[in-house]
Amino acid sequence: MEYLLTEQQKTIKQLARRIAEERILPVRAELDEKEEFPWAIMKDLADSDMFRVAIPEEYGGLGGGCLELCLVVEELSRVCSGIAVSYAASALGSFSLLKYGTEEQKRRYLPDIASGKRLAAFALTEATAGSDASAIRTTAERVEGGYILNGTKQFITNGGEAEIYTVIALTAKEKGARGASAFLVEKDAPGFSFGKKEKKMGIRASSTRELVFRNCFVPEENMVGREGVGFIMTMKLLDNSRPGVGAQAVGLAQGALEAAVDYARERIQFGHPIISIQAVQHMLANMATEVEAARLLVYAAARTIDSGAKNFTEEAAMAKVFASDTAMRVTTDAVQIFGGVGYMRDYPVEKMMRDAKITQIYEGSNQVLRDAIAFELRKRKAKRE
Ligand code: CAA
Repeated sequence: MEYLLTEQQKTIKQLARRIAEERILPVRAELDEKEEFPWAIMKDLADSDMFRVAIPEEYGGLGGGCLELCLVVEELSRVCSGIAVSYAASALGSFSLLKYGTEEQKRRYLPDIASGKRLAAFALTEATAGSDASAIRTTAERVEGGYILNGTKQFITNGGEAEIYTVIALTAKEKGARGASAFLVEKDAPGFSFGKKEKKMGIRASSTRELVFRNCFVPEENMVGREGVGFIMTMKLLDNSRPGVGAQAVGLAQGALEAAVDYARERIQFGHPIISIQAVQHMLANMATEVEAARLLVYAAARTIDSGAKNFTEEAAMAKVFASDTAMRVTTDAVQIFGGVGYMRDYPVEKMMRDAKITQIYEGSNQVLRDAIAFELRKRKAKRE
């Protein structure tokens, strides 16, 4: 398939693939088993300038956009999406700065994120606010010189490992979502601590943790954007990041497809490699077709974003929904092709199937995102009329 990538994009993709194969492949099973954060890999990614990919040159980046980020996430996920998500979550954590930060905030934080010296994270979800993001309860009370944060964030990727957090909190709780604002909170801020570390089904090398704010003072210069626009900002940031989840899903599905083809060529049953059985061939053909379709949709959504389009809610949601559903189907079929051994931890496909599930859930469940797609369709129909 011709993806119309530039030479620079091809180079980024190849480099990410090399890191994945040389550095991630040998340790992915162990890190998954031990549920250990991949610090050594984060350092390799930093040393190879991978954190610079989607940050503007003036802040130490390489000036790429959503597509470049997706290419890296895809290649890392082809080998281990638990490790890839730690990388991707740092990018999501930097989006508030990139899109809404002041010049001073960008200069203060982006160079360290670009060099990989400090990881970033994004904190929206709470126990009462998953799909219903506007039900957050964390408050940010105005005091002299800043704000006092109180509340608990749940399921935060890179929680405890990142040093720079974008935290969404209510500056006017009586206004609900319209009273939300965004803050940059540093790991060592007084009153900021970490709670429960989740034990997960998949992406187990990543950290997913509670963030606890108890009278945590945040200086006023750490507010991102204006007071009260935090919810809309969040929605737009998630529109920017969802193709990245799609890319994670595409990488995962590609890895599972390759493993299934290799296994089907080697596995002898009834005197022949099982790839000569038409039932298996058709499964593989469907898997390959779906992976290509998902990849093209993810790249197209990323390109739409990079083109400077104003509204890309629908494209981003479609890419995330289609690619994650594809990853779930393809990884499940890969386990099926492996048969009994596919269910065992000796082979990588059971991990891929566990890892795929979360892509249908986080950064907007596929149900909520179908609502968003349908909402855009209804708007379009109204406009036609
Ligand atoms: N772009 C711009 N504006 C948007 C928008 C978008 N994509 N989506 C909504 N808005 C605006 C609406 O126009 C509306 O504006 P007005 O107040 O001016 O009318 C406002 O936001 C409120 O919109 P809704 O009434 O539609 O809001 P809602 O409360 O019904 O929720 C929702 C809408 C789409 C369900 C939203 O809550 C949502 O996206 N939920 C999913 C949350 C999510 O993705 N969580 C992921 C957490 S991050 C994560 O998982 C990262 C990780 O760690 C890996």
